[in-house]
This record gives sequence, structure tokens and C-alpha cells, in this order.
Amino acid sequence: MKIPFVDLKAQYKSIQKEIDAAIAEIMANTSFIMGEPVKEFEKEFSSFLGAKHCVSVSSGTSALYLALHALGVGEGDEVIVPSHTFIGSVEPITLLGAVPVFVDVKDYVISVKDVRDKITDKTKAIMPVHLYGQSAPMDEIMEIASEKGLKVVEDACQAHGGEYNGKKLGTIGDVGCFSFYPGKNLGGYGDGGAVVCNDKKLAEKMRQFLDHGREKGEKYVHASLGFNFRMDALQAKVLSVKLKYLADWTAKRQENATLYDKNLKKVKGVEIPPKGVYHLYVIQHDDRDGLKEHLDGKGISTGIHYPVPLHLQPACKEFGGKKGDFPESEKIADRILSLPMFPELTSEQIDYVCKAIEEF
Ligand SMILES: Cc1ncc(COP(=O)(O)O)c(C=O)c1O
Repeated sequence: MKIPFVDLKAQYKSIQKEIDAAIAEIMANTSFIMGEPVKEFEKEFSSFLGAKHCVSVSSGTSALYLALHALGVGEGDEVIVPSHTFIGSVEPITLLGAVPVFVDVKDYVISVKDVRDKITDKTKAIMPVHLYGQSAPMDEIMEIASEKGLKVVEDACQAHGGEYNGKKLGTIGDVGCFSFYPGKNLGGYGDGGAVVCNDKKLAEKMRQFLDHGREKGEKYVHASLGFNFRMDALQAKVLSVKLKYLADWTAKRQENATLYDKNLKKVKGVEIPPKGVYHLYVIQHDDRDGLKEHLDGKGISTGIHYPVPLHLQPACKEFGGKKGDFPESEKIADRILSLPMFPELTSEQIDYVCKAIEEF
């Protein structure tokens, strides 16, 4: 048996008619940049999340950049961010001339204790990352932020539809940023992203910046200098179709995780993950590399998210990280293994993966 890590073809097949019709509509009117499809998707996604505004952009990385920029993060400001995340959480901070201040993680998400220790008079924002679709401890983060007058930028790029105390992830901080990279829980057929917020002025500022600083309704009057972070109409149309299925797909991911949990709980040496919307299903094992190789041999594709903590990345050298700084991030980087996880995964496939792990 061959088991892929994600199966985008299976998902496309299940909604092919609707997707093909949506794409054909865009091709027929050849209106490719922003327009009604983008407005429609923004309405639908903000209503799904319970946020007042949704601003669509070209990727999750541009969503984070746009949000930080609109919140006034700039030269010399410090932004607290977990060391265990994707590089895309950090690039927007450095591109703005701000400084990422890394902290360790606990159960894969930002460690609140470490956040408190790292606040200085230069700190401008905290970026909790809901990694793997698991919520960061938002009550504590919001409490610290309000105490210290800091902004909170939720990196919800892996957490579409996830919740914390009954609220959707991405709607708790000042802004929430999403990626619609194809493999995400809500993924387009290309790059895409969004920022959600409840502040109208902030949303307007972001809308202007993402479209060359254009004055509303004007083509060649530029009120400010911005950039091109626009979402394609095609992606918006695809995302509108897929959003209708997100709740069902999330439930399927959670069912799959329950099955994995049940089988793997009893396997010695395997640590199962905390609950969430399971963008990834990540286990831990002492001999991670050996296990990965064994699964490869059985036709099972796995991943490592992520093998090198950001404070140890060559690209982040100037921000002062060294081995030993963040013990939990460093420990898990050597132990984590992401198993196949997607809504269309069958119970037979999960059983096969679990048996292969047990065998090891
Ligand atoms: C946690 C996290 N932050 C940021 C990003 C960046 O998103 P994108 O790839 O859409 O630019 C990703 C996506 O891979 C992510 O997983």
C-alpha cells in the first residue's frame, strides 16, 4: 500500500464539478484581479469566523506582513514569536526592519512564561502561532498584551476553523492571519491568504496598502505607497467553493485523529498530539529518523514540521540564538514526525500506518 502525506487529488475529485464550474466562470468573464469573487469570499470567510472584516491577500506571509505593517510595527520594534514555527511567521517581521524575539514553546505553542520574560520597552507585538491547528493559550496572551499595551497578531495559517473557548482562532487578537496554501485545511489552487480583524480603520488601511496604496475607487490616485498583495479572483472562487466543506473536512480530520490516538496510545515510545483541527498529526518518538525510514519502506509518506528551530536557522543568526537557548523547541525538533493527515484518509489507511508504527 502507498499512503501519501496529503491527497489533494482525492479532495479535488470529490468537488470537481463545482470547482470546474467556478473556474470556468472566471475564464468566461476574464476578470482575474480582485472584483466580486474576492468580495464574496471575504464576506463568507469573515462570517464563518465571526470576524467583522476579512482582507484577502496573496499568501499567508503577505497577510502577516500587511497586518504587522498596519499595526505600526517598524524599524527596531520587537515582536515576540515562538522559535518552533515555519519561517514564514518571522520573515514579515524582519522585512519591516523589526526584530523577532524568539521564545520557547510548550505543547508545540508559545510558552506564556517565556513571553513575560522577554518583554522590553521595545516590544510592540506578540505573535502566537496556532501550530498544527492547536490553539495557543490565548487568554494568557491577551492578558499580558493588555497589561503591557502590546498588539497581538495571531498566526492562524495552520488553524482554519479551530476554536479557543468558543471563539474561532484568528478572531481573538488584534488581527488573525491565514494562509490558503494548497495543503492547508482550507487551501486554494495556488497561493492565497487573509487577514481578519474587527477594526474598520485597520481593515481599510490594509486594503489600501495591498493594492498599491490606491485611493478607494481610483485607479491612478495613490493615497500612500503600498504594494501588490492582491488575491486572484480565481483563488477566491475556489476558496468560496471549498469553504462550504471546511466544517465537514475538519470533522473528518478530527475523526481520523481519534482513530490514530486510539491505536497509537498503546504503542510504547509513541507520544500522541494534543487536540485541535489537525492541520498536521504530529507524534514524537526517540528514534524519529529510524521510524521515518521504516515508514518510508512501507510506502508511507511522512514529514517533519520543522527540523530546525528558527533561533538556530542560518537566516536568523543575527537575532542571537544559540544551541541550548530553547530546550523544548530543540528537543522536539529531533523527535517530531508528521503522519499522513487529510480528510479523505480512510480507516484502512490509518490502521496500516499504525500497524507499521507498532511493528517498528
Ligand atoms: C505557521 C505558518 N505561518 C506562516 C505561513 C506562511 O504562509 P504562506 O505559505 O501562505 O505564505 C505558513 C504556511 O506555510 C505557516 O504554516
